[in-house]
Amino acid sequence: MTAEPDIDSIAADLRYKLTARLADAGRLHSPQWRAAVEAVPRHEFVRRFYRETDAPGLTTWAPVTPELSGAEEWLRQAYADDTLITQFDGREIDWTDPQPISGAHPTSSSTLPALVVTMLEELHVHDGMNVMEIGTGTGYSTALMCHRLGARQVTSIETDPDIAARARDALNRCGYAPRLIVGDGLAGDPGGAPYDRTIATCGVRHIPHAWVRQTRPGGIVLTTLRGWMRSLGLVRLTVGHDERAEGRLVAGDPSFMIARQQDAPESLGMIPGPEAGVSRSTPYGPDTLTRPGSGFVAQLAMPGARFFTMPADDGTPCTYVLDDESFAVLTPKSGDEWHVRQGGSVALWDVLEDSLDTWRAADSPMPTEFGVTVTAKDQRVWLGSPDGPNWRLPIPAEDTDSSA
Ligand SMILES: C[S@@+](CC[C@H](N)C(=O)[O-])C[C@H]1O[C@@H](n2cnc3c(N)ncnc32)[C@H](O)[C@@H]1O
Repeated sequence: MTAEPDIDSIAADLRYKLTARLADAGRLHSPQWRAAVEAVPRHEFVRRFYRETDAPGLTTWAPVTPELSGAEEWLRQAYADDTLITQFDGREIDWTDPQPISGAHPTSSSTLPALVVTMLEELHVHDGMNVMEIGTGTGYSTALMCHRLGARQVTSIETDPDIAARARDALNRCGYAPRLIVGDGLAGDPGGAPYDRTIATCGVRHIPHAWVRQTRPGGIVLTTLRGWMRSLGLVRLTVGHDERAEGRLVAGDPSFMIARQQDAPESLGMIPGPEAGVSRSTPYGPDTLTRPGSGFVAQLAMPGARFFTMPADDGTPCTYVLDDESFAVLTPKSGDEWHVRQGGSVALWDVLEDSLDTWRAADSPMPTEFGVTVTAKDQRVWLGSPDGPNWRLPIPAEDTDSSA
């Protein structure tokens, strides 16, 4: 007869090792957050999940549960420094017979622990502070904050009712009872404001001004900014006295799933006909959109754009950049040259080239050289200082305060 594995002691050992790895990697510094990672049982928040496989081709995820994988393997994966997916395409997973999933769009997860602790450290909390979290997800990061600050100091908002219900159960099982709200976290929590700290674990295209209004002057708003092409990075804003917030990008790499209400529309828009627009040559090919530095600049310069590559009738690869009713189409010319054909109200590739010139003139700085200023009317990402070159973030009319 084989003995049942002792889940609690295996989990405690794995937690200890995860904590040490995060500390060795320079992600976890403060004793209080270290104690939280050592104490909070991540496996209680990820009883069933999907993990990305290394299968070639389309990204594929495989299900992991104690029943499918064995308790010890499930625990090992629950304490890996990995993102564990718990929902795709906004739909609940049928766990009666879970199958590998490909070509889907993850909509909820337990975030990579290294990123969770980086954000918690960057939040600069002190005892007695209250925190509003947007994106409860599995509840794991909520639990870490409850351990650090006390559950009474923590409010967390989740837009998806099924996910929120599972997080509530997991938090309760672990003995934490923070204030949990089901709703659109972009509106914040006017009833619980003011908060000392606001942290979002979903990405946003612009900073919801409600977060600034609901965070105390001197307080911090920490979130990832992203567009429909890529992430811009993690930004930490300090709130001022006049509903203004300002701060720098503190890391350029993290990418979060975008807030559901800000996700790109399903349709990419009209593909321009072969004769539409005006052509010229350009030294900037499609890889300008995907390389780390120039891709960051492209996201700033064309905040509403998306792109894809598709062969034309004669087989020539065409990269379409579409933004509202404007377009740029790139096709190979010769050597390092490309043809760009542009049309619509904005010459997208001209705008991108101007921004790239500005960036290159400043020695191609890293994202951490950029900062963000938020007011009730406007939001800008700047290079170097608030007076430096800047790019507007796309803000819908409902998120600007016309009385300000
Ligand atoms: C990356 S997951 C959160 C990870 C979580 N903090 C954890 O540790 O498990 C992002 C979550 O944000 C939620 N979300 C997306 N848009 C939202 C919104 N507008 N308001 C609140 N939650 C939102 C998603 O449903 C998803 O559960």
